[in-house]
Amino acid sequence: MKKVLLTGDRPSGQLHLGHYVGSLKNRVELQESGEYDSFVMIADIQALTDNFKDPQKVRDNVLEVALDYLAVGLDPARTTLTIQSLMPVLAELTVYYLNLVTVARLQRNPTVKNEIKEKGFGANVTAGFLAYPVSQAADITFCKANVVPVGEDQLPMIEQTREIVRSFNSVYGDVLVEPDALIPTETNARRLPGITGNDTKMSKSLGNGIYLADSSDTLRAKVRQMYTDPGHLRVDDPGKIEGNTVFTYLDVFAADKTRVAELKEHYQRGGLGDVAVKNYLFEVLEETLAPIRARRSEYAKDPASVYEILRKGTERANEVGARTLEEVRAAMKIDYFA
Ligand code: TRP
Repeated sequence: MKKVLLTGDRPSGQLHLGHYVGSLKNRVELQESGEYDSFVMIADIQALTDNFKDPQKVRDNVLEVALDYLAVGLDPARTTLTIQSLMPVLAELTVYYLNLVTVARLQRNPTVKNEIKEKGFGANVTAGFLAYPVSQAADITFCKANVVPVGEDQLPMIEQTREIVRSFNSVYGDVLVEPDALIPTETNARRLPGITGNDTKMSKSLGNGIYLADSSDTLRAKVRQMYTDPGHLRVDDPGKIEGNTVFTYLDVFAADKTRVAELKEHYQRGGLGDVAVKNYLFEVLEETLAPIRARRSEYAKDPASVYEILRKGTERANEVGARTLEEVRAAMKIDYFA
């Protein structure tokens, strides 16, 4: 039996290059390895926990995220794509797991704590938001996932899931599987800054992201705006590499490391203009993004076919979940008519 892999995203916006290097590329490689039975979930219920007043935005982004998945090469024949809200099993598991978690423990979850602060919820945080790690534990356990490929910010979620699994198994008997997080190993893949500089991460609200759906012209314009070395005023001036976003991107995306090393040396010595380096970065990014963009626009012509892919994937995920639920209900002695 293959190991089971599950991961997912909140459909609160289109996916960007940060998602690509931080997780999507890795997911496609894991899919290609053939080692796992892979599930990728569009977590619309989780997106609603902090966007509950904006259901249209969440709905629209379910399609956008699905297009991004298909565009980067997730293949529905090998990766089951599923929509969280169409899986009643998840709601059911969440309710059972809620008994196994204290409110204090949820309040201590570093990711949740940080988000409550960032979003300014304070004491007015909703029960739904506070408890989303429990719902995420349901996402991970409905298929008994062994591995969960995620970014470092999600480690507290996996830890919380592991605790719920241990607690469930010790109270009701061994049914659930404790998952392991799978963090991308490429160090420069961990965090790609936004175009406004190395201290910012890409985010819609900051308007500093490069999206997989961006046209070639948009990409060119964004690369042109990219933060470099503010002290590099004339071409002949020596320039700085540290904190220079253009070079940060070249380190991540350019295959020709020798050329990047030469450019860096030239830039630091003086005599190499920002425009020349940016033109090269544009070419490099275009090489990655052009095929993704082309596939995306093909699928975008036929949204009905994309929804059909999601419908079939969700149906399969529900079948897998039904088997887990049967075991869970039996273990909890609520299988009255079995
Ligand atoms: N919390 C994840 C994020 O914000 C999204 C997510 C929802 C997820 N359910 C999941 C990730 C299950 C991994 C496994 O990116």
